[in-house]
Amino acid sequence: MASTSTVNLEDVPSVNLMNELLRRLKCSTKPDKRVILIGPPGSGKGTQSPIIKDEYCLCHLATGDMLRAAVAAKTPLGLKAKEAMDKGELVSDDLVVSIIDEAMKKPSCRKGFILDGFPRTVVQAQKLDEMLEKQGAKIDKVLNFAINDAILEERITGRWIHPSSGRTYHTKFAPPKVPGVDDVTGEPLIQRKDDTAAVLKSRLEAFHNQTEPVIDYYSKKGILANLHAEKPPKDVTAEVEKVLSS
Ligand code: AP5
Repeated sequence: MASTSTVNLEDVPSVNLMNELLRRLKCSTKPDKRVILIGPPGSGKGTQSPIIKDEYCLCHLATGDMLRAAVAAKTPLGLKAKEAMDKGELVSDDLVVSIIDEAMKKPSCRKGFILDGFPRTVVQAQKLDEMLEKQGAKIDKVLNFAINDAILEERITGRWIHPSSGRTYHTKFAPPKVPGVDDVTGEPLIQRKDDTAAVLKSRLEAFHNQTEPVIDYYSKKGILANLHAEKPPKDVTAEVEKVLSS
């Protein structure tokens, strides 16, 4: 008997099946890719990720999203992570390494992945190398969303999110059609608890102290590409495409 989580394909509308088939056909010609997005809070990692995901048929693994889901579900992992996240500090390396290790095994990651917000410490980067070595794989590119801190407060405090899809809006730079409402589903948008000017200060501190050394780590390996993340979203997308297609 089919389990309750199994989708009965007969119940899926033909148009959805055809679209999925076409997507898989397109994906079969794409090369495998393993990409890391690194940058301070609000630099645009989450904005560019869905575009890269669709273009290269990769899975999008965002440790921040996974941790927020665990906090919302009050899982043991979420309970451990909540305090650090609320304060804008990093959660422990062991916690995030274990969730990434598990997530990379998903079938949707078979053509590769985008790591968004991981690794954030040199220890995490070294653990990632160990995990990939076991699979005979390696990181292809690390995209560094380089941007001045002064721009980030306006981006962070104006951000609104549709929680179930992860769609991101901005009151000034990417407003929804109706304020406070998701364009696609009509559901309400929310603001993240850590998206305040005060918590941003600690998040930036964590970035400069703990994550900047990770940029050096990948620069030394010769796989780092610097982006001009202060440019408008479309220009950043064009830079990403140039780097990933080369
Ligand atoms: P996480 O969720 O990863 O947050 P973050 O790194 O601080 O990044 P953000 O999601 O805030 O920024 P983004 O670059 O995705 O910006 P976006 O594209 O949305 O982490 C949260 C917390 O989880 C951490 O503080 C930590 O506690 C914990 N954590 C997560 N990973 C961890 C790890 N590996 N180790 C330990 N702890 C971990 O853009 C922002 C806004 O600007 C949007 O409104 C958008 O519309 C707008 N925008 C985007 N691009 C542009 C542009 N080019 N021009 C104008 N506006 C733009």
